[in-house]
Amino acid sequence: MNSLVKTAAEIEAMRAGGRILATVLGEVAAAVRPKVSTGELNALAERRLRELGATPSFLDYGKEEGNPYPATLCTSVNTEVVHGIPSQTKVLQEGDIVGLDLGCWYKELCTDMAITVPVGTISVEAKKLIKVTRQALDMALRQVRGGVRVGDVGQAVQSFVEAQGFTVVRKLTGHGVGRTVHEEPPIPNFGHAGTGPVLPAGATIAIEPMVNAGGDEVETLEDGWTVVTADNSLSAHFEHTVLVTENGCEILTRM
Ligand code: MF3
Ligand code: CO
Repeated sequence: MNSLVKTAAEIEAMRAGGRILATVLGEVAAAVRPKVSTGELNALAERRLRELGATPSFLDYGKEEGNPYPATLCTSVNTEVVHGIPSQTKVLQEGDIVGLDLGCWYKELCTDMAITVPVGTISVEAKKLIKVTRQALDMALRQVRGGVRVGDVGQAVQSFVEAQGFTVVRKLTGHGVGRTVHEEPPIPNFGHAGTGPVLPAGATIAIEPMVNAGGDEVETLEDGWTVVTADNSLSAHFEHTVLVTENGCEILTRM
């Protein structure tokens, strides 16, 4: 667990990397509009990360397992929950929602961030789903301080989301982050306060609620990556990398 705690130099690198990541993801979000392909968004993310001195952390992730992630950005449209693969032939349309998930390496440390944005004008339900998911991340962040348990965070997310009539995905979780893309411990978006691993001050974690408008079940497509809702309901995703502090947390990927 203490391996989660970063040195001052590591934290400084993650601050700088997180700033780059948030800048680039903001630029990608600003490029979202009807008729743009997810492949174009991926190309923009990759070019801008490299221009700012960072490198993609998702590209080729999972190589050891034989199915490397083939892009810099994850673009998850409508019923896609996470890990949607960008393509020049996948063109966004008015009314879609798209999750944009990006990670980078900077000075050998990595940060991770996601947002979900509308494409043009979207339905009332889609707007509510995005808002609730963003608020769920805020609720999680409010729990975080040195000594918090992951169950405190999970319960805050789950109870808020379910009270709004939506569900949290259980098969995928947040995670420690920094020296590798995914570190211990998993940070579920459900659970019971007072249970689970303790997060010490100095730990760096990625909190990432994934919220479905329908049921919580998800499936992975043939490509081995794209996670979709089992009932074809809409899904949204927000993520920040944060440093746990004595009194709260510092968002390292603030836009
Ligand atoms: N934020 C996502 C996660 O933590 C992105 C990972 S994409 C991958 O799972 F390709 F790197 F797996
Ligand atoms: Co993540």
